[in-house]
Amino acid sequence: MPSTEERLLSPKRAAEILAVTQQTVKKYIYDGRLPSMTTPGGHHRVRESDVRALLKPSQPDVRREGTDAATVPLLEVVRCLVTVIEELCDTFESGHGQRVADRARAIARKLGMSQKDQDQVWLAGLLHDVGKLMVDPQLLRKEGRLTADEFRKVQQHPVHSGEILGNVRELAELTRMVRHHHERVDGRGYPDGLLGDEIPTAARIIGIAEAYDSMTSRAAYREALSPRDAMGHVLAGAGTVYDQDLVASFVQTVN
Ligand SMILES: [Fe+2]
Repeated sequence: MPSTEERLLSPKRAAEILAVTQQTVKKYIYDGRLPSMTTPGGHHRVRESDVRALLKPSQPDVRREGTDAATVPLLEVVRCLVTVIEELCDTFESGHGQRVADRARAIARKLGMSQKDQDQVWLAGLLHDVGKLMVDPQLLRKEGRLTADEFRKVQQHPVHSGEILGNVRELAELTRMVRHHHERVDGRGYPDGLLGDEIPTAARIIGIAEAYDSMTSRAAYREALSPRDAMGHVLAGAGTVYDQDLVASFVQTVN
């Protein structure tokens, strides 16, 4: 069997490993982040070792924070679990959690948060929707309007996310970050209707990252918006749905 170094992958397989879309892999190739070669038939192939190397920068360097070595495999387990959950729930293109995590961390970095806080924002971003596991998948996939009762059930997912993380000692600190990712700064969000600064900063960051990724991803019930249109929606919601200052930082991470 060829070694990881020699093995060549299709963009589709690379996308699966990276938990992103095939489009994103192509973008990595065009951006020069992922070296590629072209087969005689004109298809792109990438080296598995290069794909695996790309995975590393987006993981928090937990060892630097003095966390025991057992946390590193834990992160891998968490990442795999999130992928499985996304498959089960099937509401977004796969890789939603990973993209939200990366975008949220980019905002945290822009704000000058400490490395530890950036890592926490990243992990909470990855796990923000685990509570969807406890919501009827039929509702998550439903096309068309939800009834008021169905909507209430779907709106419980951040509560479930918080409960799940609260039961894991190593993740309990993230409970409020995930519970409040659908709050709005005008107090009209859910589950608790918190207002402005009452919403943990990490939750406000994840809210923006999640909204942008949801809008730019294809969902069961609608096509994806262009990045430009999605950004327009985020900007329009600044000060009511989203924190105005955090939106300004977010814009800088995208441009
Ligand atoms: Fe959510």
